[in-house]
Formats: sequence, C-alpha cells, structure tokens
Amino acid sequence: MGVLMDRKILAIPGPTILDLDVLRAMLVSDVGHMSVEFTGIFSETLRLLRRLLYVDDDYQPIILAGSGTVGMEASLTNFVSKNDKVLVVSNGYFGDLAEKILSRYPVNINKLSSREPGDRVDNETILSRLEEDKYSALIVTHVDTSTGVKHDISELGKYTKDQDTLLIVDGVCSVGGEKINMKEAGIDVLFTGSQKALSTPVGLSIIWLSPKAMDRLKMNNLSPHYMDLGEWLKIMRSYEEGAPKYYATPAVNLIYALNGALRKIFEYGLDKWFNKHVLMAGSFRAGLQEVGLELMAKDYCRANTVSAIYLPENIESKRFRDELYRMGIVVAGGILKGLRDKYFRVGHMGMMNLNDIVAILAAMERVLYSLGYDIELGSSLRGFQEYLTEHI
Ligand SMILES: Cc1ncc(COP(=O)(O)O)c(C=O)c1O
Repeated sequence: MGVLMDRKILAIPGPTILDLDVLRAMLVSDVGHMSVEFTGIFSETLRLLRRLLYVDDDYQPIILAGSGTVGMEASLTNFVSKNDKVLVVSNGYFGDLAEKILSRYPVNINKLSSREPGDRVDNETILSRLEEDKYSALIVTHVDTSTGVKHDISELGKYTKDQDTLLIVDGVCSVGGEKINMKEAGIDVLFTGSQKALSTPVGLSIIWLSPKAMDRLKMNNLSPHYMDLGEWLKIMRSYEEGAPKYYATPAVNLIYALNGALRKIFEYGLDKWFNKHVLMAGSFRAGLQEVGLELMAKDYCRANTVSAIYLPENIESKRFRDELYRMGIVVAGGILKGLRDKYFRVGHMGMMNLNDIVAILAAMERVLYSLGYDIELGSSLRGFQEYLTEHI
C-alpha cells in the first residue's frame, strides 16, 4: 500500500504541526544555559507566557524540561501534604491519570467522574462536594484529549477564589488554543506541554502559579526533588532579573523554539489566534455534521482544540486511519477503554489553519466513500463553507 501524498498533515491532538520558523529558532549552538543570550530569550519567553494568559507579574510561569506529565506531577505534588484531601474531577483518560499519579502519594483522593464518555461532571456536583469537606486542592482537566470535552473552569474558580482550596487545572490540551484569562478564571495552578496548541517540539512543561499558589509553596509538600516548584520559582526569577542561578539545566534549544512559537502567535495577534481555533473547530464540525458523523462530546462542552468522533458502524478503525494516512492525513485512534476502536480523534490546534481543515475533511470523505459508507461526496465542504460564510 503506497503513500499517495508526499507531504502529510499532522492532525493528531499533539504533537502538532511545527512551523519552519519555530524549528529555525532552535537551531542555535554554542549557547550556554547561563549565557547572556539565553538569559534574554528565557526571560522574554516568561514574559510572553504571562501575556498568553492575560496575567501580570504577580503570576509566575515556570518552564521545566519534560513532557506534559512532568508539569502534571509537579502541579499535583507541590501543593499537597501528607493526609490532605484532594478532589479530582475526571471527564476522561487524563482526569483518571491525575488520580493515578496522586495514588503514588500519601493523600486522600476523592474522585468525581462524568456519567458517560463525552459528558462532563456538573459544576453543581463539584461545588456541593467542596462544601461538604475541606479539600487542599481541586483538580480539573480543562480539555480532556480522550473525549474532546471542555470543562467550564471559571464557575469553579469563582468559588475557590475565597477558599483555601487551590484550583489546579490540566491545560495540556487547552493552553494556547482556548482563550484563558488565568486571573479572571480564578485558576491557581495551570500546566501544559509544549507540543499541543503551542506548536513547539515535545519536551517542555509549562506551569503558571497564582499568588495564592505561590504562598502555598512554602508549606510542607510532597514534591520530588526535580519538580520542586519552590526551587524553580527562584530560578525563573533569577533569569528574569538577568542573573541566572542553577537548579538543573534548562532545555536551552527547546526554550528557543518556544520563544519562536510565542513570537509567531503574538505576531499573528493573540485574540485572532484564539478565534482561529474557534473557526477551525466550528467549520470542521459543520463539515462532519453534513457527513452524518457523530461527535463524542456533548454540544455544551466541546473543545476548540480537539474532536473525538464516532466511526460509522462497519468501518474498522485501523483501516480507516491507515487509508487516511495514505491520503496524507494523520489522525489519532481512540484511547478510552472499551471504546478504542469505536472512535478516532482529530486535533485542530496550533499552527494548523483552515486550509488544512478542508484537506482533512476531503480526505475523510474519500476514505469513508471507498470503505462503503453511504455519503454524498462534497457534502462536508458544503458544511464547512456555510459555517465560514456565517462566521468570518
Ligand atoms: C489533557 C492532557 N493531560 C496530560 C497529558 C500528558 O502529557 P504528555 O503526554 O505530554 O506527558 C496529555 C497528553 O496528551 C493530555 O492531553
């Protein structure tokens, strides 16, 4: 089976398309981690990371070497002490991962899970659970990449703002693709990975801390040595003050790449960038609807960064994805237990654009058609066009 297309469109929910300027930005050699050049790039990157979330100097971003999971484990362990109670909200695989990580530590975990795949836990249920007991932390996944479900965080932040409970948010599949004003949303700890909506190579974890979260860092916590955010906070500040200190070597070239990606986003225009994600998600789904494909996420909680889509009966998942690959489109399979072969996932974030969406829809149509699905060729394009005519 030959590959028909010489150039592929990476439409998985991370890693995402890498812009050549971003790759060029990381092509530096002979730059030490304590050098003046790198210090300038590092501190500019931290400033841009604040602007990305519309916050000021009282919020602190921290960049660690490691994939999103490193940021997740750091965020989960730095704010809890032995025997603390934590409330985990799970809308899919990654909510469950938070529980799995925490279960290695001596804390009491209480978990609320969505009723069915594609739904999210009601905020009223979460708030009433918080009323019943004292929790050190509430952990919520903003966008669960396994289901394409987005959680409304700000309703929770409004409540936790005036409580001791810290609101810790997994933004791995949302930061950079969903517009977040961290302060307004009342988020205390937010983490992401470099390889999703920030379209930077895999390997960086970014964690933002609110003033309330930074106060809590002083307390006894369960963090492993490498992920000690209190230590890293000092390092980030030292770079911003132009006098770098050492804790562990920062990922120099990846930070150059992140700097390049952030510059591109701000050049594009931040609000316009977030709106591009709204348009990509909306037009893609309008196309899917015309073809009769069903989304996993309910209409009231759909993310702008990723879609989980049920396959029609009798279409085999691997075959479908292999055929799409032959057409130059790379999509991801399902990851929910028991449903793995019943759905697939498409990432529409980062450096992807509306022209890529057309190509993805067109290839999907051809593949479905060739596999015997009853479809009118061109119908998804009609949905796409109608949506954009109304929304641009
Ligand atoms: C929502 C979410 N959280 C956490 C992670 C873990 O990140 P990583 O795979 O970069 O370690 C992922 C990865 O896809 C994710 O989508």
